[in-house]
Amino acid sequence: MFVAVMGYGTVGSGVVELLYKNHDSIVKKSMQDSLELKYILDIRDFPNSPYKDKFTKDFNVILNDPDVKIVVETMGGVTFAYDFVKKLLLAGKSVVTSNKELVAQKGYELLCIAKEKNVNFLFEASVGGGIPIIRPITQCLAANEINEIAGILNGTTNYILTKMITENAYFDEALKNAQELGYAEKDPTADVDGHDSCRKICILASLCFGKHVYPDNVHTEGIRNISLRDVAYAAAWGGVIKLIASAKKINENSITVTVGPSFVQAHSQLAGVDDVFNAILVRGDAAGDVVFYGRGAGKMPTASAVVADVIDAAKHTLKKKNFGWDDAEENYIADYLKQTSALYIRGTADDKSEAVKAINARIGAIRILNIADAPENELAFITNPAPEGEIRSKINNINGFGINNIIRVTDY
Ligand code: HSE
Repeated sequence: MFVAVMGYGTVGSGVVELLYKNHDSIVKKSMQDSLELKYILDIRDFPNSPYKDKFTKDFNVILNDPDVKIVVETMGGVTFAYDFVKKLLLAGKSVVTSNKELVAQKGYELLCIAKEKNVNFLFEASVGGGIPIIRPITQCLAANEINEIAGILNGTTNYILTKMITENAYFDEALKNAQELGYAEKDPTADVDGHDSCRKICILASLCFGKHVYPDNVHTEGIRNISLRDVAYAAAWGGVIKLIASAKKINENSITVTVGPSFVQAHSQLAGVDDVFNAILVRGDAAGDVVFYGRGAGKMPTASAVVADVIDAAKHTLKKKNFGWDDAEENYIADYLKQTSALYIRGTADDKSEAVKAINARIGAIRILNIADAPENELAFITNPAPEGEIRSKINNINGFGINNIIRVTDY
């Protein structure tokens, strides 16, 4: 059986390397007589590559070769990747991808085509890099009704927050450091503004709850607004700030999905996840809380997940795996402001005791947080849990109190 790889970047080159490095055991596990790389698609030239005879710039060479049964897509982006993957599935080839943007936006449609053509569309590497999470949800935890899934799904932002928490580094400094180390892109928008985490939680929520969650419907906040004082207040409260992506079932027809910085208690399993590591907590009704932890990005960890999918696709050549989700109705994602949560609020007050009285009158008791070296007029506190929109509207327009930041407080 022959395989092709489209996109020879970080992940694609890792896939090629792994296919050669562990060739014999991969062939054995795939239950095929052979599993060989036939083509690598890339618009760039790699004259010194040991695989230089495999390169092509023409997608149609792969599409029209009947010997190629499995194609790996590690190009990224949606435009070309979507067009190519759709054509490959329609041509009866299985596709394995690490492209979270593609799966989050077009997963339902591509899974439908795969089903119709009796081939597989697999994407273990799209969430959590080398962490096994797609198969555990769809197979190992299949007996559970999953009520909630939450996690740290972006390594770059977790690295930046870790630097802020442990070294008191400023956001800009930590971002620059992450760029120097190659974690963050030159344009770090997708990571720091939460879009990468959003795409990943969309995929996980679609799998857990059975209907496609589209990124445009998810309330997404990044970490640009987090200051070192917020980090210090989180420590005074007894925890840390993490960029948490979460999805929770309300009922069969509705879920909430959010991405945003969150206060996480120090004893939570997510609090100790530092640097570029990712962790995902799944709450099942039979298994309870299960946490998956590991390297969420990087060449070889991600290649590990891609090649595992190649092996699985090879094992299931004549059988489509029962794997996928339905499309969702318009109002499937509930308004995040109706979600119940405690909130951390930091603001400035002309007269702190008057402001506290006014806040108490509107939302009841609050827990005031104190840190050393805070400005005299700063007031930071934690509310009791209530629908977020209710808290926000009640504390808005309090005379003499201006809000500087609001962060959700998790219960895990
Ligand atoms: N930019 C992503 C991260 C890469 O930092 O986690 C893996 O999706």
